[in-house]
Amino acid sequence: MKESLSKIIYKSLCELYPQVENIPDENTILEFIEVPPNKEMGDYAFPCFRLSKALKKSPQLIAEELAKHIVDESSEAKSLGGYLNFFLQRENFAKKTIEELGKKGENYGASTMGKGKTICLDYSSINIAKRFHIGHLSTTMIGNSLNRIFKFLGYNTVAINHLGDWGTQFGKLIYAYKEWGNKDKLEKDGVDELTDLYVKYHDEAEKDPSLDDKGRAWFKAIEDGDEEALELFDWFKRLTLRDSQVVYDMLDVHFDSYAGESFYNDKMDRVIEELKAKNLLTISDGASVVNLDEYDMPPCLILKKDGASLYATRDIAAVLYRHDTYNFDKCLYVVAYQQDLHFKQVFKVVELMGYDFAKDLKHVSFGMISYEGQMLATRKGHVVYLEDLLNKACEKALDIIDQKSPDLPDKENIARQVGIGAVIYTDLQNNRIKDIDFRWERALNFDGETGPYVQYTHARCCSVLRKAEDIDFSNPDFSALCDDWAQSLLLLISRLPENIVQAAEKYEPSIITRAMTDIAKAYNKYYYEQRIITDDNDATAARLLLTKGTKDVLKTAMYLIGMEAPERM
Ligand code: ARG
Repeated sequence: MKESLSKIIYKSLCELYPQVENIPDENTILEFIEVPPNKEMGDYAFPCFRLSKALKKSPQLIAEELAKHIVDESSEAKSLGGYLNFFLQRENFAKKTIEELGKKGENYGASTMGKGKTICLDYSSINIAKRFHIGHLSTTMIGNSLNRIFKFLGYNTVAINHLGDWGTQFGKLIYAYKEWGNKDKLEKDGVDELTDLYVKYHDEAEKDPSLDDKGRAWFKAIEDGDEEALELFDWFKRLTLRDSQVVYDMLDVHFDSYAGESFYNDKMDRVIEELKAKNLLTISDGASVVNLDEYDMPPCLILKKDGASLYATRDIAAVLYRHDTYNFDKCLYVVAYQQDLHFKQVFKVVELMGYDFAKDLKHVSFGMISYEGQMLATRKGHVVYLEDLLNKACEKALDIIDQKSPDLPDKENIARQVGIGAVIYTDLQNNRIKDIDFRWERALNFDGETGPYVQYTHARCCSVLRKAEDIDFSNPDFSALCDDWAQSLLLLISRLPENIVQAAEKYEPSIITRAMTDIAKAYNKYYYEQRIITDDNDATAARLLLTKGTKDVLKTAMYLIGMEAPERM
């Protein structure tokens, strides 16, 4: 709707003021259009003071001239206090929106705005030899959602799992495995056994400090490419990925690349050489650093005293590699806010190296997650593993379904969709920077702002549509969609495409979560206030088309968040 208004405004401006040269273009006008705070001021407003300078006229006069000039069948334009206010013409607005929905179906809101552009997304980025826990839920789900959103908007995306697969801990693990491990047990228990071995190593190292050297020696062996060390290290990696794949399958999350920290082993010399050549490297306490005093940041550590590279060094190598390989327009890092400083430093160093694509690197930061009011502490053993959480969600959902609709066909599968959907919804419900406290009672509530509620509304639409097989859709009566409830629903639906674009621009999936929840609420209101199927075939047809449109956009919005949309619940 906003798009068509901006077209109309632009066209009118060109017709009214042909002599003016710097009339803003359609896209700029689109950005100026606002949603007024209350209904008396219309459904959309265009602030005419934005044009006073270009037109050399008062906002009031511009608003009046435009209001007089504009003829649009689906809205009425009125001038009010320097604003041009648009009041949607209910029947035409309904017709236009429903026709658009009919044409696009589940692609309503998709666009080609990203055509020819590539976005790299670094998300999930798990650590080898650690089991997937809920601390990695947000990066996984925000990243997955952004990946889907950008694709939906026509971008080419590269989903990267920047594995944490480098560091002395892997030397320690090799030592521990060789000392206390068992091949079959490790193969069978995978990452759980790796965790146990790691804990054992630490316990033993407290008693016998010489273990530190032994661990370090094995890490050196990995660095030097020792065959046995590499083989074991690779195996640990495979075991971790096997374990996390279970979770990725449950969440339907995918990656195009698993190039993690160790992938950059042979790509760091270039970074060091360049930093040296560009006079950015200084020695401090024997370590090589890039001084960032001038930018009020601590120095960025590049090489340790012993010449070993660091997390930041690998990230710098990764930026250069990704730019060479994918020629990205943006590279996003979906990583918790604890790493704010790290990314600020890395981006600054890339900028100081003279790469103007430093401006295209974005840290998509997010808050912490706690579970039933408890903070997670990996060290103290208070960990919630994601696989356990998801399984529990499915079980709980099945319990609820057993109570509510015991005869539902394919119950287990639906419970899985609902349980996992509830977890994803909870994760993407609020602005990403807010901390999250995960609570079962809230997540799995079928009423209120929850995943199951939105899914239930979708299933309700499906059920309404199933009841209406013998309706003739050839001549829908759109005047049946002029009531307040249908209009509120239509308005929310017509804004979904803008919401999706905003979600992409702000890297904020919660904008879609909110929009789809509002649509679900509006449909349920409509459903309670209006009889959908009546004796009047053509009015029924219009109301069913609105139901079908609602179903399609809910499904799309859920997909963009990462949720599935069951057709029965
Ligand atoms: N593995 C890291 C962690 O779990 C996150 C890596 C994020 N990506 C990156 N390019 N640094 O904290």
